[in-house]
Amino acid sequence: EPHPHKILYYALWSLQKIIFGYNLFAYFPWQATMAGQLHQQLLLSRHYSRVFSVINSHIHTSSGLASKDHYKVLVLGGGSGGITMAARMKRKVGAENVAIVEPSEMHYYQPIWTLVGAGSKNVASSGRPTASVIPSGVTWVKSKVAELNPENNTVHTDSGKKISYDYLIVALGLELHYEKIKGLPEGFEHPKIGSNYSVETVEKTWNALKNFKEGNALFTFPNTPVKCAGAPQKIMYLSDAFLRKTGKRSKANIIYNTSLPVLFGVKKYADALWEIVKKRDLNVNLRHNLIEVRADKQEAVFENLDKPGETEVYKYDMIHVTPPMGPPAVLKGSSLDDEAGWLDVNKSTLQHKTYANVFGIGDCTNLPTSKTAAAVAAQSAVLDRTVSRILKKQTPDKTYDGYTSCPLVTSYNTVILAEFDYDGQPLETFPVDQSKESRVMYHMKADIMPHLYWHGLLKGLWGGPGPYRTIMHLGMK
Ligand SMILES: Cc1cc2nc3c(=O)[nH]c(=O)nc-3n(C[C@H](O)[C@H](O)[C@H](O)COP(=O)(O)OP(=O)(O)OC[C@H]3O[C@@H](n4cnc5c(N)ncnc54)[C@H](O)[C@@H]3O)c2cc1C
Ligand SMILES: *[C@@H]1O[C@H](CO)[C@@H](O)[C@H](O)[C@H]1NC(C)=O
Ligand SMILES: *[C@@H]1O[C@H](CO)[C@@H](O)[C@H](O)[C@H]1NC(C)=O
Ligand SMILES: *[C@@H]1O[C@H](CO)[C@@H](O)[C@H](O)[C@H]1NC(C)=O
Ligand SMILES: *[C@@H]1O[C@H](CO)[C@@H](O)[C@H](O)[C@H]1NC(C)=O
Repeated sequence: EPHPHKILYYALWSLQKIIFGYNLFAYFPWQATMAGQLHQQLLLSRHYSRVFSVINSHIHTSSGLASKDHYKVLVLGGGSGGITMAARMKRKVGAENVAIVEPSEMHYYQPIWTLVGAGSKNVASSGRPTASVIPSGVTWVKSKVAELNPENNTVHTDSGKKISYDYLIVALGLELHYEKIKGLPEGFEHPKIGSNYSVETVEKTWNALKNFKEGNALFTFPNTPVKCAGAPQKIMYLSDAFLRKTGKRSKANIIYNTSLPVLFGVKKYADALWEIVKKRDLNVNLRHNLIEVRADKQEAVFENLDKPGETEVYKYDMIHVTPPMGPPAVLKGSSLDDEAGWLDVNKSTLQHKTYANVFGIGDCTNLPTSKTAAAVAAQSAVLDRTVSRILKKQTPDKTYDGYTSCPLVTSYNTVILAEFDYDGQPLETFPVDQSKESRVMYHMKADIMPHLYWHGLLKGLWGGPGPYRTIMHLGMK
């Protein structure tokens, strides 16, 4: 068992690591060893508590056959948005009245895949069993939603079960469409190609980067909305840093061909990023969309969106593909979607525009903001309020401002923390200029955000930094 004084010591050690960005105690080997051992012990005890919580939730979570066929609140999808809303709804209506429909055995903290692709975290650290994140007492229906019937307040699962509800919360995320690029997904069987966007391909990125020798390193951005719009270029910055570290940068021609007309949607951060791109000699081409990968020949085909039909072929020694993305198939063509297939919600209240007892959160919605877990956090606080008002037959009063955030990792120890709203106006939490590369923000991303995710957001306790922003700015903003 760790002694209290050791815990205090560990806390101080972590704090200095966050503030100074490196391990001061490395100069005193006995202290470093002590901190190291303690780190191991804490990891171990966390491991036991995780195993325990799985067992615990298996006891408390009735899954599959035991589930009822009516719930007061039914949540579709057990990702970031689904779990946090289930935790919040459990507090409102009681665990026995809430169910989550989710087919997957594992729940992933996706933002950490950026660092997995760069080799600084492993993929196992990003996942936990779904059973351990479902709030205890809440029913887990382990299947896929196959049909939505909001006219009748029911859904059908792929195992043929019909479930009815009083209130429905849709949190189905989005779908990756590697198959829309000719030559994929089969192409992933070859080396030198990877994609951090899926748990199956993220480690391939790291292999491609490790084995890079010389030539073109290509990074792409598709012609569709994506989640975490910064991730496709974070990968490039980290690859650049890695190639410099290993002395291979002079042999690499790093190319970012994006279908967007800008480097980043918010001017303040785009300006800062253009500086970095220039300084590090990265080639950025706007309006260039990847349409085919010939993985056997290590060739990528791009289309120039300003001159339709015009294509160019590039040889690569490594390529990172950000796939086209789209709404969940089950939403598309149901009566809940908009013309593009996304869940059609009121952008202030997150209530469905047609069905008053249906709500949405996260990547599956048509909220005109950047799709991130940080946005999910801010949305969860608003949706919590909206649903409680509706439960009391009152009209919604809390308004979502579009808050979203994207930590743009620019190297192995720096981050530009972009935070903004619907209008693309910066909405920064800290009283510093966040468009400057910062080490403290890197540790926020790598060490603090994962804790905030597992212990704050998923427990329904973290509704985004809104309330703290005023405090941080000493009431001046
Ligand atoms: C590489 C990468 C980097 C990222 N970096 C960041 C970052 O730095 N900061 C940040 O804030 N965000 C980041 N994100 C984005 C963030 O992970 C997502 O925006 C967030 O997880 C969205 O939550 P969600 O609940 O809408 O969707 P998800 O968490 O994806 O959950 C959707 C769930 O629905 C389930 N589902 C799908 N179809 C069905 C069906 N038919 N029936 C039942 N269940 C179904 C899925 O299994 C899944 O569990 C990143 C994402 C990636 C991939
Ligand atoms: C993806 O892979 C690259 C390697 O090219 C890595 O540097 C990066 O950090 C990874 N992750 C993401 C999503 O950026
Ligand atoms: C709704 O229920 C009615 C009566 O049970 C049925 O006739 C109708 O087809 C159902 N509608 C949908 C869309 O399932
Ligand atoms: C992609 O990158 C290359 C190299 O920088 C650039 O010359 C080209 O115009 C880009 N777009 C296409 C269509 O290949
Ligand atoms: C969204 O909801 C609010 C509050 O109920 C309402 O005032 C507003 O008109 C709605 N907006 C749309 C586009 O329906």
